[in-house]
Amino acid sequence: MRIIFWDLKALSTLINPNSFSLHSFLIHRPFTRTLTLNPDTLIQLRNQASMGGEIKPNNSKPKFIKDEPYLDSIIEKRVRLFESIKAHQNEALQRIAGETIRVLILPDGIVKEGKKWISSPMDIAKEISKSRAANALISQVNGTLWDMSRPLEGDCELKLFTFDTCEGRDTFWHSSAHILGQSLEMEYGCKLCIGPCTTRGEGFYYDAFYGDLALNEEHFDQIKSQATKVAAEKQPFERIEVSREQALEMFDENKFKVEIIKDLPEDKTITVYRCGPLVDLCRGPHIPNTSFVKAFACLKASSSYWRGKSDRESLQRVYGISFPDAKRLKEYMVQLEEAKKYDHRILGQNQELFFFHPLSPGSSFFLPHGARIYNKLMEFIKAQYRERGYQEVLTPNMYNMQLWETSGHAANYKENMFVFEIEKQEFGLKPMNCPGHCLMFEHRVRSYRELPLRLADFGVLHRNELSGALTGLTRVRRFQQDDAHIFCTEAQIKDEVRSVLEFINYAYDIFGFTFELELSTRPEKYLGDIETWGKAEAALSEALNEFGKPWKINEGDGAFYGPKIDISVFDALKRKFQCATLQLDFQLPSRFNLTYSAEDEARRERPVMIHRAILGSVERMLAILLEHYKGKWPFWLSPRQAIVCPVSEKSQPYALQVRDQIHKAGYYVDADTTDRKIQKKIREAQLAQYNYILVVGEEEANTGQVSVRVRDRADFSVKSLEDLLKCFNEETAAFR
Ligand SMILES: *[C@@H]1O[C@H](CO)[C@@H](O)[C@H](O)[C@H]1NC(C)=O
Ligand SMILES: *[C@@H]1O[C@H](CO)[C@@H](O)[C@H](O)[C@H]1NC(C)=O
Ligand SMILES: *[C@@H]1O[C@H](CO)[C@@H](O)[C@H](O)[C@H]1NC(C)=O
Ligand SMILES: *[C@@H]1O[C@H](CO)[C@@H](O)[C@H](O)[C@H]1NC(C)=O
Ligand SMILES: [Zn+2]
Ligand SMILES: [Zn+2]
Repeated sequence: MRIIFWDLKALSTLINPNSFSLHSFLIHRPFTRTLTLNPDTLIQLRNQASMGGEIKPNNSKPKFIKDEPYLDSIIEKRVRLFESIKAHQNEALQRIAGETIRVLILPDGIVKEGKKWISSPMDIAKEISKSRAANALISQVNGTLWDMSRPLEGDCELKLFTFDTCEGRDTFWHSSAHILGQSLEMEYGCKLCIGPCTTRGEGFYYDAFYGDLALNEEHFDQIKSQATKVAAEKQPFERIEVSREQALEMFDENKFKVEIIKDLPEDKTITVYRCGPLVDLCRGPHIPNTSFVKAFACLKASSSYWRGKSDRESLQRVYGISFPDAKRLKEYMVQLEEAKKYDHRILGQNQELFFFHPLSPGSSFFLPHGARIYNKLMEFIKAQYRERGYQEVLTPNMYNMQLWETSGHAANYKENMFVFEIEKQEFGLKPMNCPGHCLMFEHRVRSYRELPLRLADFGVLHRNELSGALTGLTRVRRFQQDDAHIFCTEAQIKDEVRSVLEFINYAYDIFGFTFELELSTRPEKYLGDIETWGKAEAALSEALNEFGKPWKINEGDGAFYGPKIDISVFDALKRKFQCATLQLDFQLPSRFNLTYSAEDEARRERPVMIHRAILGSVERMLAILLEHYKGKWPFWLSPRQAIVCPVSEKSQPYALQVRDQIHKAGYYVDADTTDRKIQKKIREAQLAQYNYILVVGEEEANTGQVSVRVRDRADFSVKSLEDLLKCFNEETAAFR
């Protein structure tokens, strides 16, 4: 269902909120002005909504008048300021430039000479080979990413990256976001806001303010042809450094950029880049010029809010993708289509696993077959809890706001919480289990003998996601996690972290995911003392080393309350997700004044808290697995493990007997008792993704056997029921 132009607020006052809610719809962009709807339209709208049709606005071609002279004057001013600052800076550089420098090229080990403040990585690359220079998108100088055209400032080590590296692709897509921004500004005169941004996976987006214009797929061709023009102009990316005042002057017509500049720390070096008519605030770096972007496409447009706050201006976000050649774009589009076929929302509907209802947006209804999978996932984790020394607890869903004040959620997370009043007191639904577990820890005096204390909780969590952001099971308001908190001593951190890593490895191996590890360390703003951080980071590194999988370091990317390990998983379609959590926390134990008595009794020490989850949100994991398996559940997790198909009515009693025995053995089994032809029954059972199709005729009935077909295999074998159940047990035990 899609509503393209309607104003959420205006509509919800017009439409009885009890009849249906608008929140579950994908809102392209809410209107900012009030609309008037006549009663007929309203009735029609309501009917269409409840029937699941598409609501189109009454005039599908919105008008937006770009003020050309105004836009030209903005561009002229920005470019003029940029060029004058650049000339000034170049002049200053001329005076200190020229000294000979040595550049060590890695990994080659070649040394080249250059001129300080004059030679750029591009110049050096050209000296190695023409092709090296032509393919390099970005360089790294002494470990810092550096534009290919930015002059070198001294002796250094130089690396070059092409599109086939992460650094290269990131820079490529980031630079493409500038091309997108330029196209949007030129085409619609919009105010560029947050951006240029790359998405977590592949591609990029730009948020902008468009006034009354509502973007949709129909605009994509226009944007694309503008982007193609930008690439054809081979606009170089040029860099300058500006003062705060210069930046404010340059962007004074754009209140969003002004807000960004004003929020920057006073002493921050502000860099500004220009490509063609677009001058943009940006840290960089970029590809040498726009000509590298040979293939460009818009993927989708959606609505967002300035700063993600629903009471601020409503913006629109355009997503794009680009490649250095048309072939790769084509391959990408094919892959995207392929992925769409396996969208969990579609598979979930076909397999009758779950649905959403407008009366509770963002909270899923799990149908019987969906609940089977959901419960299997939880049982899987629970069995591991027994093995791994966790204890399960149950904690409340709502707490007096006092708790959230102690935990810091009231100050930092309140807008993501559902808050309400009970007997004149403010309460909040829990968005996380941690504060509740702190209450449990402090419930009585704790001794070092009890540590590590591993409290596991499948508690129901609620987070107030914006209605526009809700998508299937991946972005919901109500979910459960396989959440646990480990309270331990500093000395226990290493072993605890290592065993969480092993737990993750165990589970992801069964699902068939691969994963990568990164350690995020102390950020600029942090809580606690440096010494504790140092010890914790050392413990995490040691745990990672002992675990034995390669890992990377993400300097300064930890949360302010503790270092963490980021775990990225890759599914069968090579898409990247974050599911597991492994995060140290020094803050909550101190906010709750948690202590335990140390070995020498008299002393009270503060425990460290480790937040950890393996599946993360069970809802989201179910969606990821559904897409990962392309709807073909492995036997142990399958909601439809077997179906018995009698070849004729005569064998029906035996079929029912077989079904009952398998059911008693604890498996999900059905019987097809319709009077259709056996071939048709088998075909249908295959489409429904039953793992085992058991065909029984008179012969099988006489011998007490079943003819077994495995999903997706043409052949079959005849087995006694006993052997079949043995096989089922083996499959389950091996998580196949
Ligand atoms: C669309 O709605 C506007 C008012 O919102 C009205 O003026 C206009 O006539 C409508 N157009 C059509 C084609 O119904
Ligand atoms: C853009 O970059 C390519 C590759 O480095 C180069 O061949 C071309 O001369 C550049 N064009 C401009 C206008 O800078
Ligand atoms: C790069 O690193 C080397 C070795 O640490 C150092 O001598 C040099 O000054 C650095 N260059 C720059 C430009 O920072
Ligand atoms: C924290 O707990 C300790 C011992 O459990 C107690 O002595 C101390 O007074 C508490 N501090 C605060 C601020 O409540
Ligand atoms: Zn940039
Ligand atoms: Zn937690």
